[in-house]
Amino acid sequence: MPPLQILRKKNDNMGSSSIFFLCVLSSFLLYVAMPQPLSTNSRWVVNESGQRVKLACVNWVAHLEVVVAEGLNKQPVDVISKGILDMGFNCVRLTWPLFLFTNDTLASITVRQSFKNLGLVESIAGLQANNPSIIDLSLINAYQAVVASLANNNVMIVLDNQISKPGWCCSNSDGNGFFGDQYFNPDLWIKGLTKVATMFKGTKNVVAMSLRNELRGPKQNVTDWYRYMQKGAEAVHAANPNVLVILSGLNYDKDLSFILNKPVQLTFTNKLVFEVHWYGFSNGKEWETSNPNLVCGQVLGNLMGNAGFVLGQGFPLFVSEFGVDMRGTNVNDNRYFNCFMGWAAEYDLDWALWTLAGSYYLREGVVGRNEYYGVLDWNWCDVRNSSFLQRLSVLQSPFRGMFENTRK
Ligand SMILES: *[C@@H]1O[C@H](CO)[C@@H](O)[C@H](O)[C@H]1NC(C)=O
Ligand SMILES: *[C@@H]1O[C@H](CO)[C@@H](O)[C@H](O)[C@H]1NC(C)=O
Ligand SMILES: *[C@@H]1O[C@H](CO)[C@@H](O)[C@H](O)[C@H]1NC(C)=O
Ligand SMILES: *[C@@H]1O[C@H](CO)[C@@H](O)[C@H](O)[C@H]1NC(C)=O
Repeated sequence: MPPLQILRKKNDNMGSSSIFFLCVLSSFLLYVAMPQPLSTNSRWVVNESGQRVKLACVNWVAHLEVVVAEGLNKQPVDVISKGILDMGFNCVRLTWPLFLFTNDTLASITVRQSFKNLGLVESIAGLQANNPSIIDLSLINAYQAVVASLANNNVMIVLDNQISKPGWCCSNSDGNGFFGDQYFNPDLWIKGLTKVATMFKGTKNVVAMSLRNELRGPKQNVTDWYRYMQKGAEAVHAANPNVLVILSGLNYDKDLSFILNKPVQLTFTNKLVFEVHWYGFSNGKEWETSNPNLVCGQVLGNLMGNAGFVLGQGFPLFVSEFGVDMRGTNVNDNRYFNCFMGWAAEYDLDWALWTLAGSYYLREGVVGRNEYYGVLDWNWCDVRNSSFLQRLSVLQSPFRGMFENTRK
């Protein structure tokens, strides 16, 4: 998530949706066919029988300072996993910070200790009550427990390397933006990718790995992009040939235009997916201040030129971050979202909503910070805005023929 969002006031007393969702979760079991391993057929993601699988994901953050998937102080992990399915998603983009997999000291801190170190005493009580089997695990085992819960509940998982040093992402100067930055050593990154790919090789629901979120900052350049992204892709594939390899572009994952004239060179085929991010604030306040129809046409033109063209080249495009302020009061977001819905439906894209979290243990120094872009409310109990979810549900199932020509 890039830094341009408008400042949002913390307000924990907002009205919540009346539909009790996670709290009175139905316990019936859905039978969901195991979809893995996945591969690509032209611009589509397909399963082993060659049939399309649409990734309808929600982002679940596990890369902040505590290095524990958010919300475990509010709900048992299985309740959250089941709730994700009940909301109509079939998949989670689960973030991870590189250092969890490259720093053994960090990896072996217990969940309890990690909260203690940050003074998050209330969260410890919540975790003890809701996830007693996780609180004394090491951070790395806790991450595995979350993956296992999602897998046991037949949720597909995209493991996303969001950042190196645990903390909120992203800014140009946070030292995590591009290869060679303070916290972004390419060799260490390859080591971490290899470790994650190997660790989850036996977990069939881990269907994809996105190699690095939102490359950015003064060091970014195309030459190094090819050098390292190709290396990272090969490392992941060598360690775990089952997963899809997802590559993000430059400039906060908004720019893949360089691919147009220079294809990525890999030793393997049918596993490569590109990702793009698109928010209302990606275009400042333009939606609010100008004619939204004109803005929509203009912005989509740029988006297709910067990223959407990969569909025509025969690669899936995973819109791995998009979202709105769910209170419905942000005019810029509302107008953008109308445009987004039309685009995502027209191309029947794969996507991941930002975000699941109703609130964070600790984000940017604020304890229990409310997330107004979160599909769940502050307590991780109700759906924050059921009419939003209703609207989004249109995009949750596939509706286009797989072999339709997508060139424009
Ligand atoms: C592939 O997907 C189709 C449609 O959802 C499903 O019927 C089929 O069982 C799946 N095949 C495998 C091997 O998972
Ligand atoms: C590894 O993690 C520990 C615990 O967070 C930290 O104190 C240490 O500085 C880290 N080491 C490196 C090399 O980043
Ligand atoms: C790309 O960035 C790296 C690291 O900053 C630098 O060494 C290299 O010269 C840059 N290459 C180009 C073509 O700008
Ligand atoms: C949900 O979003 C809609 C706009 O999309 C807004 O009108 C409504 O007030 C929101 N509801 C809640 C409970 O925030």
